[in-house]
Amino acid sequence: MCGIVGYLGLNDAKEIILNGLKRLEYRGYDSAGMSLYDGENKTFQLFKEKGRIVELEKSLTTTKAALGIGHTRWATHGKVNRENAHPHMSSDQRFSIVHNGVIDNHKALKTMYFDNHAFKSETDTEVIVELMALFAKQMPVPNAMRKTLKLLQGSYALLVIDHESPDTLYAAKHRSPLLLATADDGMIIGSDMMALIGTAERYMALEDETFLQMSKDDATIYDLDGTVLPYDMSVFDMDVLHTEKGNFPHYMLKEIYEQPTMLRGIISKFFNGNTINISQMLLKSIKKHNRLHILAAGTSMHAGFIGKGLFEKLTGIPTEVHIASEFAYQMPILGDKPYFILISQSGETADLRACLLNLKKKQYPTLTITNVITSTLAREADDALEIFAGPEIAVASTKAYTAQIAVLSILAYALSCQTFALKRELSEVAIAMEQCLDNVDYIDDLVKQTLTKDHCFYIGRGNDYHVSLEAALKLKEISYIHTEGFAAGELKHGTIALIETDTPVIAIISNDKTAQNTRSNLAEVHSRGAKTLTIVFESLQEPGDEIVLKNVNPSLAPLLTVLPSQLIAYYAALNRGHDIDKPRNLAKSVTVE
Ligand code: AGP
Repeated sequence: MCGIVGYLGLNDAKEIILNGLKRLEYRGYDSAGMSLYDGENKTFQLFKEKGRIVELEKSLTTTKAALGIGHTRWATHGKVNRENAHPHMSSDQRFSIVHNGVIDNHKALKTMYFDNHAFKSETDTEVIVELMALFAKQMPVPNAMRKTLKLLQGSYALLVIDHESPDTLYAAKHRSPLLLATADDGMIIGSDMMALIGTAERYMALEDETFLQMSKDDATIYDLDGTVLPYDMSVFDMDVLHTEKGNFPHYMLKEIYEQPTMLRGIISKFFNGNTINISQMLLKSIKKHNRLHILAAGTSMHAGFIGKGLFEKLTGIPTEVHIASEFAYQMPILGDKPYFILISQSGETADLRACLLNLKKKQYPTLTITNVITSTLAREADDALEIFAGPEIAVASTKAYTAQIAVLSILAYALSCQTFALKRELSEVAIAMEQCLDNVDYIDDLVKQTLTKDHCFYIGRGNDYHVSLEAALKLKEISYIHTEGFAAGELKHGTIALIETDTPVIAIISNDKTAQNTRSNLAEVHSRGAKTLTIVFESLQEPGDEIVLKNVNPSLAPLLTVLPSQLIAYYAALNRGHDIDKPRNLAKSVTVE
């Protein structure tokens, strides 16, 4: 989703912003732009292009800039074109702005303040810069900014430059992330840690309803009434090496391969001998409640389904999983002592933030499980647990899913009085993952033979069904093959009508109690012409099975059964020539509702 970078200092803003925008490419975008102040010629220049950042780079004519703001746009209001790309400039040419988020009342503001004005773009952003210009005719710029911000309903992370004041950068934040950092000889501001890599020295996340005024040496942060707010910065220690592809052709493949090592890393983070490193206060607080509610979206929600099984089996506490975007506006009956677990790789998903704000208002206890411990959801929940997956750059989430399940299993285990050796069982999974990763060429061949159609089904029962949902999401998001994950027994109640000659149906079979039932469902589609493929545990193997996995503890089976499905998605997308790490229409961090 949209990305923002701004720089003011003695180094070259153009290079710093360009590097930052390139690091934000993983978030997904469709156009990019920059506004730069050329100190030598004392002019501001605006550049924007539809498509990839290389197109923007080609168009840049400024040689060196002291101040600049840059943006990658993921279209929400208005088509993907140059006019709608950011930055937007006020019609009096005084201000340039970049914006992440959505201004819900942009139409009303246009009618109220600019009845006959011809806006150049279809965006919800342009009205902000026109309001700034309008109010700045009557008052100092900081007051004009505050007056504008107070009119906005919705979410924003904004950077604004006043072309009459090239030694100042203005910014504001409400419900969309924004990080401020000191840099060598300047200050940098961005929407994501990735944007700051290589430049930031110390950093901090801005709070909602704040705006700031920054010079090359310093920044002052205000609330919307103009009161100066104190702040503290932490050392920025994100390692550039962890964010590079190394010898892998794609981030997604690198991240798939990282899973066994990552799992061992999680074990060492959470286990101290046989003691678990989760605060007793947190465990006690969860135990006081009689119903767990897991909130998440997409892949993280699929991890949540596995978490539900683990919590119910190990702790006996009834657990429900909710789609965050539904829960935010349709809160179900919760029970008398509910506890909320928010799962999010990025920790910035707007649907979850909407839930969290509601939960906080009602003073319900919350825990965020996330890969980004500095994220908004981690900071704002009562407690946070890090999943230690390391940076996940590919839009299609792989290692975050397995890391989330691993941490959920450790949390469930810590809450229970179980005696099985979870640490050893997780280590066994890491070994089984490595064995599966030794056979990737075989999986590529199977994909070439089987995935010959534009539709596909994954089927399974219990945990295998929940992994089917994730497997289907992975395949559709990067290969664009229309795929559904189905409870194996449910297919015959209608959807089997879609099976025709050579429709691929992939069955996941890891549970001895349901293996034969799933095999019967597979036989039903096979006899109607489907091309079938199986992912099975070796103890359940039958002649003709294709992908056979080492047995692991059945409660942890999803950590392993998902792996071939990630590889299937990867090779299907590769064979179709798609942009694997940046699939069309998708964003890594979904910061609008
Ligand atoms: C999965 O491949 C997707 N990128 C997507 O479903 C993702 O899991 C979802 O948007 C939730 O993101 P989060 O984990 O960062 O909250």
